[in-house]
Amino acid sequence: MAPKEPQTQAPSAPAPGKTGAGAAAAKPQPEGRGKTRREFNWLALAWTAFTAASVAGLTATMRFMFPNVLFEPPTLFKAGYPDSYKPGEVDERFKEKYGVWIIRGEDNIMYALIAICTHLGCPPNWLAAEQKFKCPCHGSGYYKSGINFEGPTPRPLERARITLGEDGQIIVDKSRKFQWEKGEWTDPDSFLKL
Ligand code: FES
Repeated sequence: MAPKEPQTQAPSAPAPGKTGAGAAAAKPQPEGRGKTRREFNWLALAWTAFTAASVAGLTATMRFMFPNVLFEPPTLFKAGYPDSYKPGEVDERFKEKYGVWIIRGEDNIMYALIAICTHLGCPPNWLAAEQKFKCPCHGSGYYKSGINFEGPTPRPLERARITLGEDGQIIVDKSRKFQWEKGEWTDPDSFLKL
């Protein structure tokens, strides 16, 4: 009896689109592929954490180098020439920026009133029709001179130092204040006689 011929033919490939154990056997996963993906994830996580820590550190450094500073307008400023003010009027051109009204009286005496209510510190408004300063917070009222006459405020508005510079311009200095109740409105620096 003749010996049986050994089978040398390779197993046939699965048909296209065919799945199952045969297909899996045909496409083996590369060794270590899952491990590489896990390493990549850890690396990305580490970089993210490192970047976040770096940004936080940089922010803290910047805050240290540039601390919160309140930039307030200077207390001393030039207010133009006296001729630019009309007699008898309250001039509001410096109220918003410097918190000061400048008044040129009919008698040509000028003074600078600080626009802070002496009750609790709100900024009053000038009501030209009523010729008075009126505080919107609790209703205190002041005459054009700054003297209080209504509402809860206990005292007049304060005046700021007002002088003439060498160039003929008015200089207002809010760091020097004058209070009526202390008799300081007679100080020659509290008004300007033209
Ligand atoms: S703060 Fe002006 S009336 Fe109270």
